[in-house]
Amino acid sequence: MIKDLVFKNRSYRRFDQSARIAPETLRELCDLARLSPSGRNAQPLKYILVSSEEMCAKVYPTLSWAGYLKEWDGPEEGERPAAYVVVLGDTAIANNYGIDAGLAIQSLTLGAVEKGLGGCIIQTVRRDDLAKILDIPSQFEILYVVALGKPVEKVVVETLKPDGDIKYWRDAEQTHHVPKRELKDLIVAEK
Ligand SMILES: Cc1cc2nc3c(=O)[nH]c(=O)nc-3n(C[C@H](O)[C@H](O)[C@H](O)COP(=O)(O)O)c2cc1C
Repeated sequence: MIKDLVFKNRSYRRFDQSARIAPETLRELCDLARLSPSGRNAQPLKYILVSSEEMCAKVYPTLSWAGYLKEWDGPEEGERPAAYVVVLGDTAIANNYGIDAGLAIQSLTLGAVEKGLGGCIIQTVRRDDLAKILDIPSQFEILYVVALGKPVEKVVVETLKPDGDIKYWRDAEQTHHVPKRELKDLIVAEK
């Protein structure tokens, strides 16, 4: 069950934009982030939940998609995310956020997959623009944006080829391929 969820929890970048996500669903996913581990239990992460079509349209241009796919500028109209979770660091609580954001986002995206949704973590964000668009007080640092929606793309995990290239790629059918290193190449020792 967990293997299945982790396997399906790929980075999805093309969605059925018409399948809107209710604010309540975003709150449920955010609650999974809330319950995730936090260094010193400081819980410095805060969230902005974006689900209205109007705000989604404003957030979208601040994001960069799939740097390895040089010919692709990101999802076109109709295939754009139906919601976003902006992950913030609250500087009033902490000035570094350790691995909290990664853990929180993993919980959130696993929850999304369980609901038949999917997402993509976006780190390459025009932060100044996004802060203005969402009117984010300077107390908060924008860490990541998680784009969410009902995926319409097929993503397959495959074993790294002998040349060791880790770049994801798309084939002629637009299937997205994600090379992963083999387990035997990750385990340095078993004692
Ligand atoms: C910290 C982090 C930052 C990322 N930033 C971006 C990004 O800015 N844009 C993007 O399209 N994907 C981004 N991704 C998604 C990665 O490209 C993706 O995780 C990787 O290609 C492996 O694919 P998988 O998630 O399906 O295993 C990011 C992922 C992580 C963990």
